[in-house]
Amino acid sequence: MRRLRSSQKIRDMVAETRLDPSELVLPLFFDANIDSPRMTESMPGVVTYPLSGYAEIAKELEEAGVGAVLVFGIPSAKDPVGSDAYSDTGVVQEAIRGLKAVSDLLVIADLCMCEYTDHGHCGVLDGHGSVVNDDTIDLYGKIAVSQARAGADMVAPSGMMDGQIAAIRFALDAEGFQDVPIMAYSAKFYSAYYGPFRDVACSAPGKGNRAGYQMPCGNRREAMREIDMDVVEGCDIIMVKPAGPYLDIIREAADAFNLPIAAYQVSGEYAMMKAAAANGWIDEDRVMMESLLAIKRAGADIIITYYAKEAARKLRERR
Ligand code: PBG
Ligand code: ZN
Repeated sequence: MRRLRSSQKIRDMVAETRLDPSELVLPLFFDANIDSPRMTESMPGVVTYPLSGYAEIAKELEEAGVGAVLVFGIPSAKDPVGSDAYSDTGVVQEAIRGLKAVSDLLVIADLCMCEYTDHGHCGVLDGHGSVVNDDTIDLYGKIAVSQARAGADMVAPSGMMDGQIAAIRFALDAEGFQDVPIMAYSAKFYSAYYGPFRDVACSAPGKGNRAGYQMPCGNRREAMREIDMDVVEGCDIIMVKPAGPYLDIIREAADAFNLPIAAYQVSGEYAMMKAAAANGWIDEDRVMMESLLAIKRAGADIIITYYAKEAARKLRERR
């Protein structure tokens, strides 16, 4: 075996898995309440931008060559029905419009309500604090249309409501957005790895948790059923989330479905690597690339990661 490991050139030649900047997606946060960029302690390197900041970041990302951005917004006002999420002048709509005006970046819009509702849940609540499924997916349809109208190239619903893909597809088609694809957060688990994200996006539920809509962590067959339904409802890309702790699910999805697979290396995965690196306990560059390569090897075609810019730059340097 060692004959094929004897030099970097030979190792490159026989490499079974390669990463490319075009398959990396960077989550981007815009906050309508700030005038200058904000850092978050639990997510070193992740910057939340004011709405005026899109031109600067767009240029940086185009230079780094990332495949796309996944845009999240923090609105100036929250209410029980998340009105800002489907307002044509909402924070994410403004951010999308701005990014598209100054760049050729591929812009994917995260489609959910938890950043926009005052209770922090991913939909509207009944009197007992439970999310009402069908009222919520009607609103998801409205969000999708407003995001497409703002210029989003793709929408990515992350709320884990039943029937959300069909509702969004129907709403988009009815408004003339037949060409806007849906990246479905199909197998999104009820994960503790989302903790740091909620510090950045200010989207932690005030009362209760998301176990009533996100998937139980140990359920593999149920994940396949979730994906199956999204495919039938008309999604274009399947997502598994988180990525690193769920490589088996990524592999099984890649084997079972003939759609592109995306995997989301989430905030907690990133925060753990950052914390260990800050202590000098791991070589950050190598662990970053290894974690991404492992997700690719498991079967992901697209990787959403907070490391997208650094990893894209590193891949370009190597060429
Ligand atoms: C909102 C949403 C979350 C993430 C992406 N979209 C948080 C959640 O479901 O609580 C998590 C991303 C991350 O942890 O990096 N629905
Ligand atoms: Zn949500």
